[in-house]
Order: sequence, then structure tokens, then C-alpha cells
Amino acid sequence: MDKKEEPMSYSEAISKAASAIYRFPLIEVQGVPLMNWITNSWSLISAFQPDPSDLLIATYPKAGTTWTQEIVDLLLHDGDAEVCKRAPTAVRIPFLEIQSPPPIPSGLDLLKTMKPPRVIKTHLPIQLVPKGFWENKCKVIYVARNAKDNLVSYYYFDRMNQTQPEPGPWDQYIHKFMRGKLPWGSWYDHVKGYWREKENRNILYLFFEDIKENPRREILRIMHYLDLSLPDDIINKIVQLTSFEVMKDNPMVNYTFIPNTVFDSSISPFMRKGEVGDWIIHFTPAQSKMFDEDYTRQMADVDIPFRTSI
Ligand code: A3P
Repeated sequence: MDKKEEPMSYSEAISKAASAIYRFPLIEVQGVPLMNWITNSWSLISAFQPDPSDLLIATYPKAGTTWTQEIVDLLLHDGDAEVCKRAPTAVRIPFLEIQSPPPIPSGLDLLKTMKPPRVIKTHLPIQLVPKGFWENKCKVIYVARNAKDNLVSYYYFDRMNQTQPEPGPWDQYIHKFMRGKLPWGSWYDHVKGYWREKENRNILYLFFEDIKENPRREILRIMHYLDLSLPDDIINKIVQLTSFEVMKDNPMVNYTFIPNTVFDSSISPFMRKGEVGDWIIHFTPAQSKMFDEDYTRQMADVDIPFRTSI
């Protein structure tokens, strides 16, 4: 094939679109702030019809999505590291609702090119997930991360990701997070929404802190949920391949293929620290007290066993 006729790679498409990328404004869908590109295509996104064999990985942003995507892809491919380097995470496991300036393919564009069973990523809160996922009884893995570490991770991400609204100073960002004024809305509503439906809708609800504490145990939980059975040596390999250190150096998962004009790694790398408890060096004691008091109010109607240290 003439080189010019080869399909454009995802990273080439992003480079081409770089000049059309800026910090996109948020527009609410049913009270949830979303990037204007997503809101503008909302009818298409909410009409998406998955196949019953499709698997959804749902998270609030920065809760460990990429980590879980890599674990799932490796489980589905017998721990074959080379197969799982066939393309960047965003291409292997399309981001359902993402819409960006052309020629970047949308999540829906990528999904059209793939045959079920597909693995699909979303950050949508449960009430905005296309109805077809529930009608077709698709499997859903939800990963939640404690609010304080999630907030810190989101703050660094919003600084480096030039498509997200300007985060502003740290002490104001904490309030934006508490009021749910960030892309994909309220962390509190997000984690509660999936928690309340986990039994009804057969959702595997996982915690970032549990995966960090004992990755093997949590990988086995995912394996069983997917009705897979892999030998011990492959599970051990997956534990190693999905460690922070290995993923940080894997160009197919660490998002370094995204140009610096979009993900400015001089501000923060995508694979930043991967720790539990990093919030301690970011919150002042007064901020922590204020956040905890508000947390108690916002989470009073539910008992989700979050841990801010392990
Ligand atoms: P930090 O910013 O705290 O480092 P998402 O994929 O949902 O955007 O989440 C990104 C967060 O998950 C980042 O957190 C990133 O470092 C962390 N992460 C990604 N892979 C990880 C891994 N293998 N182990 C631990 N943390 C990981």
C-alpha cells in the first residue's frame, strides 16, 4: 500500500487536530457538566446500542481507569504483553462518550470499527449511561478511588490536559470538586450511583486502594467476574505487567503518544505517582477538616468503605 493511503494513527490524528484543541467549555446534560463536544453529540451517545457481550469499565475520572483497562485487556488475552501493545489504550478500549475535533475519531467512530465483544470505557455517571447497557445486561466493572486522592489526581490532570477547563488555584479547586463543578460532575453522586445499583445490575464494584494493596486478589476478582480461568503463572505476569513502574514505561498505556500541546507532561505526566495517601502532602490541616466535614454531609446517606490510607 502507498504510505499515504495508510489509515491515520490515533496519535497522528491528535497531532493534526492540535491547533483546534483548547480548554473546552462545559455544558450540562441533566445537571452533569460535560465537555461541549460531548454535549453537542449527546443524542448519538445516549442512543448507543451495545452488544450483550460488550463489557463496560466505568469510573469517575482519575480513579484508576487506565490501570483497570490494562488488567482487563491482559486477562482477555491470556497475559500476552505483545498483543496488548497492539495499540494505545484509547484505541483498544474506546472511550464511549469522547468527541473531539476532527480528524480524531470519536469513541463511537472507533466502536463502529470493532466487532463485539468489545471493552468500552466511560466516565458517565450511572444515570447517563446509555440504556442499552442495562437492557442488554452488559457486564460493568466500576472502579472507585477515595475522594481526596481522586481530587489530587484530577487537579494535576486538569493542569496538564489542555482540553479540560482551567483548574485554577488549588484551594478553589477543592471547592469545585466538592460542588461537582468538574467535567463529569459530582464525585459523590458518581460513586453513590453505581454503589446503590451494584447488586441490581450485577456491577463489579472495585476500589483503587484494594488493587494497590493486593493486585493479585483484585485481578482474580475481575477474572472470575469475566468467567475466565487463567493459571497462576499468567496471573503473576499480569500483576507484574500492570504495576505502576511497568505501566509508566509502556508507551501504549502511559499516554506519552499524545502530543505535549494536548497533554503537557512538563506540568505532570499522565502516570504521575499511582499512590494511596498522596493527598496528605496537598491538603493543609484546615482544608482537610473542611473537606471531611462536607464529606460526612454528602455521604451521610450511604456507607461505602473508602480508605484514604492503606
Ligand atoms: P495519580 O495522578 O495519583 O498518579 P485514570 O486512568 O482513571 O485517569 O487514573 C489515573 C491515575 O491512576 C493516576 O493517579 C495514575 O498514576 C494512576 N495509575 C495508573 N496506572 C496505575 C498503576 N498501574 N498503579 C497505580 N496507579 C496507577
